[in-house]
Amino acid sequence: MHTSMNHSGESPPTATNRPLAILIVLLLAGWLLRTGGVCRPVEAERSVHPGINREYQNPDIPRWMGRFESESREIYEHRDRIVADVLAGPRGLALARGEIAIADIGAGTGFFSMLFGTAVGSHGRVYSVDIVPEFLELIRERSEKEGLNNIATVLCSERDVRLPPESIDLAFVCDTYHHFEYPRSTLASIFRALRSGGELVIIDFHRIEGVSRPWIIEHVRCDQQTVIEEVIAAGFEPDESPDADYLEENYFLRFRKP
Ligand SMILES: C[S@@+](CC[C@H](N)C(=O)[O-])C[C@H]1O[C@@H](n2cnc3c(N)ncnc32)[C@H](O)[C@@H]1O
Repeated sequence: MHTSMNHSGESPPTATNRPLAILIVLLLAGWLLRTGGVCRPVEAERSVHPGINREYQNPDIPRWMGRFESESREIYEHRDRIVADVLAGPRGLALARGEIAIADIGAGTGFFSMLFGTAVGSHGRVYSVDIVPEFLELIRERSEKEGLNNIATVLCSERDVRLPPESIDLAFVCDTYHHFEYPRSTLASIFRALRSGGELVIIDFHRIEGVSRPWIIEHVRCDQQTVIEEVIAAGFEPDESPDADYLEENYFLRFRKP
């Protein structure tokens, strides 16, 4: 007669231990379904505004110089006051200790980087950060022409400003927050790059239904309150913001890394 005994003398699952094996498999499957398993990938942030930066691909530099550096643009008209207000932060920032590292994030054609570079002189360093290499090339040419050797350019990604941890005292984000496609990831990278007590300044458009110009409503993703909530959710604390009553279409917010 044929027997089911194998060479080692062990028997295959029998009618008596099969239900136990099925129960174990079911429990394991349930656990995997609930937890997603131990190696579930961290969910990547989705773009909050796909295509918002498409217009900067292969940029026509003279055209963007004309658009960004026009006296009809509120923040360009008031650029000197903005820089003074930024640098007069509540604690005078790291200027008091004789040196400061500033990141101009979303530097564009770089006029703010030039002004910061001139203002901090040999007591500071400015990182012009952008996702567009052509803008950074322009900034390199401009700073060389103006004899500013305290400006360095950083090509970043859409999710990460790519600055070393705890390397900056101030992150300046002007007319750029609404261009962040991945604000949660980008804010986390700014948070990492700031030294403790460092400042994040955001200047951006008011977006008020029925008040703001139609192109702002269409182009700018969210209002001031949403920006504040997103920045606080990233770990920042709100800080005293300047009056900036010279700005009408834009707000000026200051935050601090605790
Ligand atoms: C409207 S421009 C503002 C330029 C400059 N801050 C100004 O006020 O003239 C927005 C800039 O942000 C850059 N940008 C968009 N997304 C970015 C990101 N995730 N990180 C850094 N720069 C970004 C764009 O390439 C562009 O230069």
